[in-house]
Amino acid sequence: MKALVLSGGAGTRLRPITHTSAKQLVPVANKPVLFYGLEAIAEAGITEVGVIVGDTAAEIREAIGDGSDFGIKVTYLQQDAPLGLAHAVLIARDFLGDDDFVMYLGDNFIVGGITDLVDSFRTDRPDAQILLTKVPNPTSFGVAELDTDGRVVALEEKPKEPKSDLALVGVYLFTPAVHEAVRSIEPSWRGELEITHAIQWLIDQDRDVRSTTISGYWKDTGNVTDMLEVNRLVLETVEPCREGSVDENTEVIGRVRIEKGAQVTRSRIVGPAIIGAGSVVSDAYIGPSTSVSEECRIVDSEIEYSIVLKGASITGVRRVEASLIGRAVEVTPAPRNPSVHRLVLGDHSKVQISS
Ligand code: TTP
Repeated sequence: MKALVLSGGAGTRLRPITHTSAKQLVPVANKPVLFYGLEAIAEAGITEVGVIVGDTAAEIREAIGDGSDFGIKVTYLQQDAPLGLAHAVLIARDFLGDDDFVMYLGDNFIVGGITDLVDSFRTDRPDAQILLTKVPNPTSFGVAELDTDGRVVALEEKPKEPKSDLALVGVYLFTPAVHEAVRSIEPSWRGELEITHAIQWLIDQDRDVRSTTISGYWKDTGNVTDMLEVNRLVLETVEPCREGSVDENTEVIGRVRIEKGAQVTRSRIVGPAIIGAGSVVSDAYIGPSTSVSEECRIVDSEIEYSIVLKGASITGVRRVEASLIGRAVEVTPAPRNPSVHRLVLGDHSKVQISS
């Protein structure tokens, strides 16, 4: 069995972060979201992994190399444009050969791994197996309709009138039967070869398409709200540690990781939170569910429920909340008189100002 990990895509919903970097490498609890997926694949006993890459190929390659750090062997597969999830399967044909495979979306986060799922697929070998989860807003997802035996009878992409509240999760298991399906479908109205159409094609050919409904948490980290929520969830499980220095005027409460070389002075940190290696925190409040990456500076500021990427600095600002701060970003106060906002924002940035 092989794995196909999708790490291309346009990432429009995470702009401007995705103008300069791959969304699959945005850290959750200071580790790229993609790494959690690769670890789950390795844990399920799969070692041959094809990684679909697009414009951000160089960055993804640098992050995961040949895969040996994860105990896997990675083959990179270049996708010239993000033409859809089924298109990724199409271009991976030679790599996949006649093996069964698990397709894993590189920006998805699944609690509890995929080992049980892979094991049951290995035993039963239906033509395809999809993962579903109950959602409160099925109109925003690919939605499955099941018969009384749990077989999938239809799939619909973002239906106006959903037939169930079971949304597709970003992990799919296939036998080689899927290759004929991806060759047989046409691009959708958005110009993409949709994996839902390929699976529907299998259903229409009376192939065996099964589903597993998971109750464990999963998220598509493609947007900021979900990203912050996944970060909160993972922070609740990190091992606390104090590898950096913390002065006696600092109060550290709850589950907090202070990584190597970090310096914390005259501050209050309420976990769960991480202060990344080499970061400086002084005269600051770091509130729950906050990840500060490496080499950041949080000085005379307050921040909570946020992710701060490498090398960013926040000085004299209170309070930052529910924010994703990009690499090497600087946030400082504007002069008090006259009261103005001074902004240098990249394309597609989003700012909410309290005034
Ligand atoms: P999506 O999040 O569905 O698509 P996207 O990356 O284009 O994002 P947005 O909707 O914000 O523009 O993609 C799911 C995963 O699959 C993600 O890791 C990117 C990857 N992907 C590919 O590798 N190739 C593709 O052709 C597509 C559409 C996605």
